[in-house]
Amino acid sequence: MSQSVNARKVAIVGCGFVGSAAAFTLMQSKLFSEMVLLDANTEKAEGEAMDIAHGISFAGQMKIYAGGYDDIADAAVIVVTAGANQKPNETRLDLVHKNVNIFKSIIPEIAKRDFKGILLIVANPVDILTYVAVKLSGLPENRVIGSGTVLDTARLKYALSEHLEVDSRNVHSFIIGEHGDSEIAAWSSANVSGVPLNTFCEMRGHFNHEKSMEAIAEKVKNSAYEIISKKHATYYGVAMAVKRICECIVRDEKSILPVSSMMHGNYGIDDISLSMPGIVGANGIETLIPISLDETETAKLQESARMLKEIAAGLDL
Ligand code: 2OP
Repeated sequence: MSQSVNARKVAIVGCGFVGSAAAFTLMQSKLFSEMVLLDANTEKAEGEAMDIAHGISFAGQMKIYAGGYDDIADAAVIVVTAGANQKPNETRLDLVHKNVNIFKSIIPEIAKRDFKGILLIVANPVDILTYVAVKLSGLPENRVIGSGTVLDTARLKYALSEHLEVDSRNVHSFIIGEHGDSEIAAWSSANVSGVPLNTFCEMRGHFNHEKSMEAIAEKVKNSAYEIISKKHATYYGVAMAVKRICECIVRDEKSILPVSSMMHGNYGIDDISLSMPGIVGANGIETLIPISLDETETAKLQESARMLKEIAAGLDL
């Protein structure tokens, strides 16, 4: 029987720090009227569902419960956070084999139930796992997206807002490529409400552009390492990124977000998933936005893609 979609239902697969923080954030968002939590440890999913449900009377009526794959098949969005997370001194890419194996047990379960919604991958390494989810699910590529560099971009906007003393929502800039060590700050297209970044910096009394940009990009890239060394995990920032992506899908906002998606010749990159700004709405990613990159940015993006492709080629899918 063909599966229908319940537009107000979300499912979260994996109830660790990231999954439960996303569930808590989504409960407060009022975007959904039903939320299913699924974890290999059923008791953990049940406990999180109970705990989060006890906040409902302070937020808005909805159902929250622990369930299995049959319960999530009609969700509008399935958020996959399941997998090992980074420990201090580990990179996201170090998790690849462990998490690809976990995906081999999760994604086919979703695909065989004729899932018609959007699969949102959050587990790391998110770009590789988005590629893996596309290949293992056989779903149309627009319906399989990764949280990608939405979080890194938020970190960049926050860092720039601090540096320039301006609202982060007026900062327009993107981190692109891998959500990880090879990510790129697309400085050449950055602006503050249409004012080129360097002009705005000078307006705010900053003149050492190259040095400042390098320091900010490094700080953003290393944020997760810094947080993990201090508190052993990151989850609030990514939970807000998940909420923002869900908002775009549920409300068909067609907002531009740097989610991870499959590339087909864009910037000379093919058959790998990485993060580039695209229009996100009810159908997942509709189209990529051809932001202009300078030569150095393009070369770094291509290098990021080459490295991800090399890892993808070594996977047994
Ligand atoms: C983060 O960037 C670890 O990917 C996670 O916070």
